[in-house]
Amino acid sequence: MRVSITEIKEMKQRKEKIPMLTAYDYVTAKMVDDAGVPLILVGDSLGMVMLGYESTIPVTMDEMVHHTKAVVRGARKSLVVGDMPFMTYHISISDALSNAARFIQEGGAQAVKLEGGEVVAEKVKRLVDCGIPVMGHIGLTPQSIHQLGGYKVRGKAVEEARRLLNDASVLEEAGAFAIVLECTPAPLSKLITHKLAIPTIGIGAGPDCDGQVQVISDILGLYTDFVPKHARQYARLAGEISDAVASYMSEVRSLSFPTMEHSYTMDEDIIKLLEAES
Ligand code: KIV
Repeated sequence: MRVSITEIKEMKQRKEKIPMLTAYDYVTAKMVDDAGVPLILVGDSLGMVMLGYESTIPVTMDEMVHHTKAVVRGARKSLVVGDMPFMTYHISISDALSNAARFIQEGGAQAVKLEGGEVVAEKVKRLVDCGIPVMGHIGLTPQSIHQLGGYKVRGKAVEEARRLLNDASVLEEAGAFAIVLECTPAPLSKLITHKLAIPTIGIGAGPDCDGQVQVISDILGLYTDFVPKHARQYARLAGEISDAVASYMSEVRSLSFPTMEHSYTMDEDIIKLLEAES
């Protein structure tokens, strides 16, 4: 049985920490799902770590739906959350509804995530009223990077901290089932977490959030263009892949790969006949 939003909310009540990871393709989603991770985010971070864009801003709905389908094919138990890209829920409620519906109907996701607090609350409420579970995302919201002026910690100053506390409550009232807190100071994340009945999922938000989310390419050491302060590398796959590629090249050049072990045979009489004919 697939994890439900009710089970995610119950994990907070039981004080059971909620691990969440991003995935962008079938193979990775299968491994994350098999490991028992309850929540998978098809993050718009795929724009940077999979597609090589400079930020998440160029990511389109078609790209997100394409990757969501692959993740859903790989994940049998985890609850899959599709990340709504820049400007796909800002223009109108009707845009937000039809794009969120694409994640659920075409992509097969069970929920969507969108960035912003009070300003998106009405949209969150309409999506939830239509039966689409919504995860909020406040703090550092990478889709607003040009407005925010960089990838910086949010909520250190009193006014911004008050705004984030209010945003979190407003999203909860609007019906969000969980809220991502990105790059918020640990004491503020703790306060928000205590204030809310729904789970907070932190990334660079300290240890007291109800759950943690990480970009899988960061924790596997696959994306080396930039390693955020809040990520820990549990593997160094970029180095291992480079070594494997170098070994392959060297063995092809030295004729030690492939051998007959990796080749197919055929009837000797047939090949002799063909040789005689040519
Ligand atoms: O796109 C993403 O991966 C995210 C996480 C950083 C929360 O939004």
